[in-house]
Amino acid sequence: MAKKTNKNERYPSHASLLWRLVKGSKRFFVTSILFAWFSSLLGLVNPRIISFAVDSVIGDAAPDLPGYLLPLAERLGGAEALRAHIGYIAVAVIAVAVLSSLASYIFRMMNARGQEVMLLETRDLLYGHILSLPLSWHNQNHTGDIIQRCTSDVDVIRAFVSEQLSALVRTLVQIILSVYFMLGISPRLTLIPLAFIPVIVLFSYFFHVRIEKSFEKVDAMEGQLSAVAQENLTGVRVVRAFGRENYERERFEKKNEEYTGLWDYLMKLLSLFWASGDALSGLQTLLILIIGARFALADTITTGGFIAFIAYSSMLAWPVRQLGRVISGMSRAGVSIDRIRYILNSEPEAETEAASPAPLSGDIVFDHVTFRYGQEDAPVLNDVSLTIREGKVTGILGSTGSGKSTLMYLLCRLYDLPKDGGQILVGGRALSTITRASVRSQVGIVLQEPYLFSRTLGENISMTDREADEQAIRDASRVAALDETVSRFTRGYETFVGERGVTLSGGQKQRTAIAQTLLRKTPIMILDDSLSAVDAQTDARIRRELDRQESSATRILISHRITTLMHADHIIVLDKGRLVEEGSHDELYAAGGLYRRICDMQSPEGA
Ligand SMILES: Nc1ncnc2c1ncn2[C@@H]1O[C@H](COP(=O)(O)OP(=O)(O)O)[C@@H](O)[C@H]1O
Ligand SMILES: [Mg+2]
Repeated sequence: MAKKTNKNERYPSHASLLWRLVKGSKRFFVTSILFAWFSSLLGLVNPRIISFAVDSVIGDAAPDLPGYLLPLAERLGGAEALRAHIGYIAVAVIAVAVLSSLASYIFRMMNARGQEVMLLETRDLLYGHILSLPLSWHNQNHTGDIIQRCTSDVDVIRAFVSEQLSALVRTLVQIILSVYFMLGISPRLTLIPLAFIPVIVLFSYFFHVRIEKSFEKVDAMEGQLSAVAQENLTGVRVVRAFGRENYERERFEKKNEEYTGLWDYLMKLLSLFWASGDALSGLQTLLILIIGARFALADTITTGGFIAFIAYSSMLAWPVRQLGRVISGMSRAGVSIDRIRYILNSEPEAETEAASPAPLSGDIVFDHVTFRYGQEDAPVLNDVSLTIREGKVTGILGSTGSGKSTLMYLLCRLYDLPKDGGQILVGGRALSTITRASVRSQVGIVLQEPYLFSRTLGENISMTDREADEQAIRDASRVAALDETVSRFTRGYETFVGERGVTLSGGQKQRTAIAQTLLRKTPIMILDDSLSAVDAQTDARIRRELDRQESSATRILISHRITTLMHADHIIVLDKGRLVEEGSHDELYAAGGLYRRICDMQSPEGA
């Protein structure tokens, strides 16, 4: 999936996507960050109180308070009053700690709420967008990979916004304030942490470049791994039936090993980063202890100041290293944001402005239609011209791969014709000028490979028409010859259909799909090889029932079984993407071409 920068992209930058993802949740995050600030600010106050207590209350140094606090301290009786009631200091320390915890509690609450809202919105946004993407996009992208982007990558972004972004803000504030307080105690001693900060930041930058690359590889590999797993789970029956478990397991194990290897390397890299980070901070503290102790002995700084300085310096050690983590988190998030951007920047099926809803009435004309799936592929349909008469039954015969289904997908506007690929007209109007929604609501197609959802049989049938009542469902089932089958199920229409319909036989699935489509009562109805898995008798029964329906629907029957098609008003024979013959059964039979040959093959007496 190549990255392509395109000015028309919906989300041209990381920031633009991030902004969209926090649309409804940013107020929670902003509040949470404010409280996080407040909490860390309060955390910085206590060392100050303690140093004041040690130096000016227990000791007798002049109170080293910020100017604006001095008059207040005087009014309260100054250091003497505090000396008499030393408990006040303890109360102040506790009060500050309680306030800090309270702020921290609100920070966490708001943060959690923000995360929920953000996940909710992101999932909806992605799901809605993915459903709106054209089939050609879905053909190109693996389901496993898409799912991984919607789960792991979304989670990385969530962690980035809720943890790293607020950590970044918090960390910067903490560093600035600590340095400010340390400068107040001893500017000379502050030179030590000030010298260390850029070194540690540069050092984390060096690591984060490598960590980012590593994460990118891990991500790509995870996508491949879930694609393999997903494919095998979806095709578990095929894998079993062909006894390919060992082969597939080995394939998975190989990928899994590569994946683990990548993680291993990444973890080593991270450990190295953290260990050397620890060593650096340790060195910093050691230097401060040695030099600070000398200063304290030489009375350059007070004992309380020394204690507070050590407290600030160790408070600093964590945020500075955190900065390294935040930076590597940012790169990881950058990769995930790119992967989500790929999805959200993919063009959904768009309508040209000229398209409008319109009734599909009149004959359907394919006019010199040429179509290929990939730009470099050979054409699947090659200069096909044909007419499907309104209200009549048209049969399409052709071997597998001759392009029958593709012809119908084009009629449903599941794919669009390229500019030089001819055109499809309905009642003289170009299909491309009628909106997809309008086209699809009027063309009922029973897909060659019906897909049922893991819901009840009744729910599956009424998927196409949510308002359908029981009677309508029964009627549709009767025409589709499904009613007898249903009556044999103890739970009838309430029978639960397993994932992808695995609890039904191929023929039952096909008949359920036919009932689905019948329920919609569309003016155009396509049965794409929909009777292949039912026996000849049921096939005939369904066709008879369809004929008996007093509807003027245009019906298109696709099959490679002559008996299914022979009674159609008009029969089209496709071969390798070209129209080779057309006419009624009698005409085609008499012509003695491909149709006749297939006919003779299927029944030696000539049907
Ligand atoms: N999504 C797709 N991407 C690429 N090629 C496809 C796709 N669907 C079908 N084809 C190819 O197009 C040709 C016609 O397929 P199809 O229309 O399904 O034929 P039929 O329905 O007659 O069996 C086949 O060679 C098939 O491999
Ligand atoms: Mg087909």
